[in-house]
Amino acid sequence: MSQLIVSGMRPTGKLHLGHYLGVIQNWVELQHKYDSYFFVADWHALTTKYDKTEDLKNDVLNVVIDWLASGLDPEISTIYVQSHVPEIAELNIYLGMVTPQNWVERDPTLKDMAKILRTKEGQNSQISYGLMGYPVLMSADIMMMNADAVPVGIDQVAHIEITRDIARRFNNIYNTDFFKEPKALLNNCSLICGLDGNKMGKSFHNDIKISDTAEETAKKVMTAITDRSRMRKTDLGHPDECEVAFKYWQVFGSDEQITRVRCECEKGERGCADCKRQLASEMNEKLAEIRERRVYYESHLDEVKDIISEGDKKARVRAGEVISKVRELVRMY
Ligand code: TRP
Ligand code: SF4
Repeated sequence: MSQLIVSGMRPTGKLHLGHYLGVIQNWVELQHKYDSYFFVADWHALTTKYDKTEDLKNDVLNVVIDWLASGLDPEISTIYVQSHVPEIAELNIYLGMVTPQNWVERDPTLKDMAKILRTKEGQNSQISYGLMGYPVLMSADIMMMNADAVPVGIDQVAHIEITRDIARRFNNIYNTDFFKEPKALLNNCSLICGLDGNKMGKSFHNDIKISDTAEETAKKVMTAITDRSRMRKTDLGHPDECEVAFKYWQVFGSDEQITRVRCECEKGERGCADCKRQLASEMNEKLAEIRERRVYYESHLDEVKDIISEGDKKARVRAGEVISKVRELVRMY
């Protein structure tokens, strides 16, 4: 029997190439090898944005559209929304009871989020009980499917460690080996930086969206940082110090193209503006199919909603089995 994986993403609205290259592309490959569950973590969005919910439903939909456009196949993957599976909330309660307070306080990602929250909202902002519970809720997501593994980026590994600890503790307390200790499945996908050389992110305004048009992409690529020491086309270039454009070439170009760009740049035979124009057209070619599919789903929202309902149902079947077992183990029913 094939192993089960589960992973989720917070609904931050339209996704960017960092999400695509760093996470989704990996999921698209893994879905053929594993029994795969992918969900939008809309409850997790509430941990920091409980007072900004007006766009939440739409953001959830946009995330699923980006996934489908990127090649997640609803025929083989189960695509669902966290809040549509209420069993997760129940499991969250049981797991919360067995989780020592200092385990969640130690969570490094949580500490980072708290820091960001404080700088954004000013001194008085409080960390909510819900945000403290982030790692427990995430464990509930994963253990709800009793997953073998969780494909995530390196930034989420600490969370998977807590999940393993919580699973082990639950098993010890209730004298069972029911829950698996899920492993993090790290991807070897290329990480892509933002147009300014920093981490790509919506709030940094340095991202290229999956949903951007070819024209928007070209315009953004023209702003990408290059070798700062170069003023003219004939200046000898240093591709390895070309902080963004050459890195993008390495992700989107063929080996042959990369070699040619490097060579021409070093010899001063290639101007940065031309180089980026070519780069943009290469990127647009690679992304064309995804964007076509995105346009299709955007105009067939009922189809997207049906896909989610089907996924919700399938996820709830698995969740129902797990929660029944948990109630029995805890001796509730
Ligand atoms: N914390 C993850 C993120 O910010 C999202 C997430 C929530 C998740 N629950 C999960 C990822 C369960 C993997 C498994 O990206
Ligand atoms: Fe970068 Fe291309 Fe300019 Fe060289 S020519 S510095 S690779 S943008």
